[in-house]
Amino acid sequence: MQVLSFSDYHNLSDFAASQIAFAIKNNPSLTLCMASGHTPSLTCDLLVKKLKEENIDYSSLHFLGLDEWAGLPPANEGSCHYFFQTKLFGPLQLDASQYFLFDAMADDLVNECNKMDEHIKKIGGIDMMLVGIGMNGHIGFNEPGTPFNSFCHVARLDETTKTVGQKYFTEKMELTKGITIGLRHLLAAKKALLQANGIKKATVIQQAVEGLVTETFPASIMQQHTNGFILVDEEAGSFLNKTH
Ligand code: F6R
Repeated sequence: MQVLSFSDYHNLSDFAASQIAFAIKNNPSLTLCMASGHTPSLTCDLLVKKLKEENIDYSSLHFLGLDEWAGLPPANEGSCHYFFQTKLFGPLQLDASQYFLFDAMADDLVNECNKMDEHIKKIGGIDMMLVGIGMNGHIGFNEPGTPFNSFCHVARLDETTKTVGQKYFTEKMELTKGITIGLRHLLAAKKALLQANGIKKATVIQQAVEGLVTETFPASIMQQHTNGFILVDEEAGSFLNKTH
């Protein structure tokens, strides 16, 4: 794992978007798995811009959604599905066959997990993952205590996730469970980027990069990724003690 520092959120997002655009250029049938949320928002905008301006062929790109709030319909503006629809699928006019997301409205969420695991296996694994980090160190909805070798699963949400998650919604939401791609898939991804910006992420970044590698702090798994990169802006990286 390597830490890459950027002066601000824009430069951090621009780097992430360039990395993805470059990867698609080199491998038009790239499988990209991404988190939604506030952190990757600008990366998505810049990625759309780059793909169009640089005339990169993304007609064979395959996209996987990292996670979803259980029971939330895609039309809900706080859903991960809505985020990707408005930020990527719509602007890029991706064909529905180009993306695979959890159906968080399904009666049988375990079946949804199995379907995603099988899909990942069938397509030969994930080429590139772009994830964020939660205020409890989660990645996707891999909450503290999730085994590093976990496949896709339904997660009971941590109190921090329930509270912080309110920021995506216009009214108070009852958030109890999430459905997520497991940490095993992150570790197996050919390349993994974790991005974080702002002073509020400084503590969790310090713990992810310099703390113990432990299942009680899921993002510490990045230390085990042989092609893993932690992208931070100046504020998010400001508590790091060592030079990385
Ligand atoms: C969302 C996801 C979450 C977020 C994390 C950080 O799809 O996977 O793990 O990446 O909670 O969220 P933001 O970027 O909003 O700070």
